[in-house]
Parts: sequence; structure tokens; C-alpha cells
Amino acid sequence: MPTQDEIRTALTRVIDPELRRSIVELGMVRSIDIADGGDVHVTVSLTTAGCPIRNSFTEAVTREVGTVAGVGNVSVAFDVLSDKEKAALQKTLGRGSMPAGALAQVKNVLCVGSGKGGVGKSTLTSNLAAALTLDGKSVGILDADVWGYSIPRMFGLGGERPPVSPERKILPMQAHGVKVMSIGFFVEEDAAVVWRGPMLHKALTQFLEDVAWGELDYLLVDLPPGTGDVSMTLAQLLPQAQFIIVTTPQPTAQKVARRAAQMAGKVSLEIAGIIENMAGFTTPSGERFQIFGEGGGQALADELDVPLLGKVPLTMPLRAQADDGTPLVFTDPDDPAAQAIHHAARGIVAMSPVELPVLQGPAPTGISLPMAG
Ligand SMILES: Nc1ncnc2c1ncn2[C@@H]1O[C@H](COP(=O)(O)OP(=O)(O)O)[C@@H](O)[C@H]1O
Ligand SMILES: [Mg+2]
Repeated sequence: MPTQDEIRTALTRVIDPELRRSIVELGMVRSIDIADGGDVHVTVSLTTAGCPIRNSFTEAVTREVGTVAGVGNVSVAFDVLSDKEKAALQKTLGRGSMPAGALAQVKNVLCVGSGKGGVGKSTLTSNLAAALTLDGKSVGILDADVWGYSIPRMFGLGGERPPVSPERKILPMQAHGVKVMSIGFFVEEDAAVVWRGPMLHKALTQFLEDVAWGELDYLLVDLPPGTGDVSMTLAQLLPQAQFIIVTTPQPTAQKVARRAAQMAGKVSLEIAGIIENMAGFTTPSGERFQIFGEGGGQALADELDVPLLGKVPLTMPLRAQADDGTPLVFTDPDDPAAQAIHHAARGIVAMSPVELPVLQGPAPTGISLPMAG
């Protein structure tokens, strides 16, 4: 008797010719029924009822399932994915849900968030950008902390307004090879901007759609503290984005960070991992102090079942360089904080998809279905 697993394995060789992934991976296998005599009935869920590739699927499923030992007759039926399932598929595909246009060539979007301010989101965002850049990635930073923007200062940018291209796109500013966009480029220094909901939504939408980001391996989004409007808006605009949650080591901070995680869950954004910041301080004589306690990052990572990407110690140069306008990772890669951030960046690279799915996914392995119609 063939088993469900054997049939499912055979079905991984049935590749959707348009989406260029197997119907198993795409969640399109609704059911597999194996009768006592070894006859197998497979139901495949299509994106639309009138899917022109039905016949090819029938043929491919029959052929591949037929290769499994013990299989008698193979029959194939179809139904249609529910809207919820289609949304999940869209998410698997990632690109499909990207806003077209300016972000079309951005491979990964990572939002750096936390439950509260002052935990080092902006510092980590700018230094992660530096580390990724040093490792040969193309990187942009969207400073979405519209109330407390600090990315321009951390990159020594200020004074100048971003230019506009002939196509009427805003060009991001550049520093040390990193593309930067911030509301800070458009408002008077220290001016208190009162954001009303629709205005905020419009500004963020513009930052994503009217900025010529070009080709990027990573767009890092520096979120404002908390779980408010900005995060919700971005989650709507960027359903494929992933979250990195920053926490300090003490248990109370963890509670706050957990709220950010819950918000991410509510808007169905995936959490890529945790970075613990301000994890201890070592004096020049080598004495170590756990100023903000210890273990919070690991505990949160365990609780959420996501990786702890790094533990970044307190070092004076990390703060000094942030104030000075060049991220520390560029100026002193051997500093312990710089090293820890670089390590976290490598972890991020290790888990990012390397190619744009759909647009240039890997050549399908196994059988390939001809396009019908
Ligand atoms: N690991 C660290 N070591 C030393 N100073 C740090 C560290 N992380 C952050 N800081 C400093 O703490 C302050 C708050 O950091 P910031 O990145 O602005 O936080 P957030 O963006 O979460 O509000 C800044 O002055 C920054 O330079
Ligand atoms: Mg900040």
C-alpha cells in the first residue's frame, strides 16, 4: 500500500508552470485519498476555477503518482482556493504582494521594532545596514520613526533635500553606500510635526511607492517605538515584510517587546528574530557588568520560537559613532558591539531568500508543465 507521504513526495515533482514551484509547496494539494486496492484520488486546489493549466496538472499528477509502488488507478479532481488560502499563497510567493513600482526590485524588507524607545532600534538599524553593505549587499533604510527620526544624523546626512528624478520619483540620499529616506529630510530641524492618521498613511505610502529605491537586497525599516499606527500601516503596505524585535536583557523589557511581537502576529507579519541590545558592559580592565540584567533576549526568542540573532554589548564607540554620523561597523569593525551586529547581519543573510521568487525563481526541477492556451 502506498502511503500519504510517498504520494506527497511524488507530488513535489508537479511544478506549477506559472508560479514555478511545486504544488505541495504552494499548498495546492487539498487531499490525497488512498483506497484499499491502491487507487489514489488527489484533489488539487487552483487559484481560479477556469485555470487553463488544469489538463496539464491532471496529466502530471497522474504520471508522478503513478511512479509510486503499489499505486493502482489515479484520479484527479479540482477545487478552488478560498480567499484566505489565496492570501496565504500570496504570502508564500512574497513578491506578488509587494506594491508594484518603486519596490519592485527590493528583495527583502525587514522592520526593526520594539515595544519602547531608547532600546537601540535606530543604532542597530544603521549598523546592520553597514554590516550588510560591507558584505556586498545593496541596502536601503526607510526611517519610519516620523516623530523621533534619527537615521539622518546617524549617517551624517542633513540640510539637503532629496532630489527628484525626471520621472518624478524622490531619490533617496546616500551615505557610505546606503540609501536613506527619512521625513527628517523634509521638515525643519526640531519642528514638531503633528501627524494625523491619513497624513501619516500618505507619507509612508509615498516613501514606499514614490521613492526610487531601485535594486535592493535589503530595505531596513526603522520603526517608531510601540505598536501604533505606523506599524499597522506598514504591515498593510508590506505584507511580506519580516520583523526584527529589539529588546534589552531585563525581564521587564521582554514584556514590552512581547507586545511588539503580538502586534506583528496580529497583522500576520513573520518575526525573523530577536536582537538583544545593551547586553552587558566590559570595562577596559576586563570586568563585566550586566547593567541591564541578563537573559531577556534568549527568553523572548525561546518563547516566540524564533532565533536570537545577536547579543550586542554596550560600548561607548557605538554611541559615539551614532552621534558622529558614521555607523561604528564602518569605522571600527573589531569593536565588540560592531562584531555582534555583524554576526546578527550574517544570520539575517543566512535566512533570506537569495532570489526574487516568481520573477526569477530557480529553474523548476523535475517535470515541467507546458503552458496551455
Ligand atoms: N549597545 C549600545 N552601546 C552604547 N550605546 C548604545 C547602544 N545601543 C544604543 N545606544 C545609544 O542609546 C541611545 C538610544 O539608541 P537609539 O538607537 O536611538 O534607540 P531607539 O531608536 O530604540 O530609540 C543612543 O544614544 C544610542 O547611541
Ligand atoms: Mg530610533
